[in-house]
Amino acid sequence: MAMAAFMFSSAICSFINDGGMEMAGAASIWFNGALVSAEEARVPVTAHALHYGSSVFEGIRAYATPRGPAVFCLPQHVRRLMDSCRIFRMTLPYTASEVTEAIVATVRANNHESCYIRPLVFRGPGTFSLDPRKASVEVAIITFEWGRYLGQEAVEQGVDVMVSSWRRAAPDTAVPMAKIGGQYVTSQFIAMEAADHGFTEGIALDAQGFISEGSGENVFVVRDGVVFTPPLSASVLPGVTRAAVLTLLRDLGLAVREEPLLRETLYMADEVFFTGTAAEITPVRSVDRIAVGEGRRGPVTARVAEQFFGITGGHLPDRHGWLTDVNADRPGSATRSGSGHDSGDGHRVGDGPAPVRRGSGERA
Ligand SMILES: Cc1ncc(COP(=O)(O)O)c(C=O)c1O
Repeated sequence: MAMAAFMFSSAICSFINDGGMEMAGAASIWFNGALVSAEEARVPVTAHALHYGSSVFEGIRAYATPRGPAVFCLPQHVRRLMDSCRIFRMTLPYTASEVTEAIVATVRANNHESCYIRPLVFRGPGTFSLDPRKASVEVAIITFEWGRYLGQEAVEQGVDVMVSSWRRAAPDTAVPMAKIGGQYVTSQFIAMEAADHGFTEGIALDAQGFISEGSGENVFVVRDGVVFTPPLSASVLPGVTRAAVLTLLRDLGLAVREEPLLRETLYMADEVFFTGTAAEITPVRSVDRIAVGEGRRGPVTARVAEQFFGITGGHLPDRHGWLTDVNADRPGSATRSGSGHDSGDGHRVGDGPAPVRRGSGERA
């Protein structure tokens, strides 16, 4: 994989080993308004976020399509980043349009065919107080080439999971709708516990004992042709993939219900699957060592995966306008997917200059 990555992307400068899966780190990181080398994108040890988890972030994928790389649901991810900043009272010194342009510019600068994109807004130096607002607000956009998060076989064969002993935080304990760095301590406990017990992933219950979500994925359950997923009130992250999959399921004419789900629903299910930017559509083949359905990917999961990977790979029409072509405004390039779309605040992706400037315009 390392050789292949080198052949496809001359900009790659480093490889990170993630549990046997190599992630190719990109040469250029967008950091506070400019593209810099990975060596230049450094953070002092006094950064507030290092001590208290005061950061917000996104996880986004750009897919390889016949038209070049295309970012999936970019406006939706930028909007959630803006929401997270607002919830955490971080004044982001860039507009949604500027962040959008910067993300596209970073993917393009690194010559990725496909990649994972990690926008990160964090509190830098300025205070050690637990009121973080005297600390600076810094922004980085990191990209790297990344394969299947839960393993190459997972998307076809499914994964074995456990119900975690760790609960997702109650709604009055944390802010589940925000993607705040510090909140991911719970996810790390869920992931470590699952790995230590020989499972690929854990599913956490919410504070009431209803099914919530995986450490980094939303959960869907299928029974008798009806598709269920926990509501946002079950302390789940409002997943961008979750929303897209709900749309795809309705497109397929399936009945979909967002309602509180008891733990045993997982044991009675015909199918269970995860959704997420990292996990994409991953079937669950067993829960707590009880086989789900036939113990492999079921027909509903297969149908929604076919739609998802068809659209993201550019082989099926992008009928919901989910793809942002990275090379859309390059001379001689194919046009963007569909007729283009708005980044969430009135600017069209790909029309503006990049990288973006700092400190102008509206604030989050
Ligand atoms: C806790 C958690 N739940 C669900 C998801 C899935 O969200 P999305 O589909 O937006 O990636 C993620 C990933 O971001 C996550 O971290």
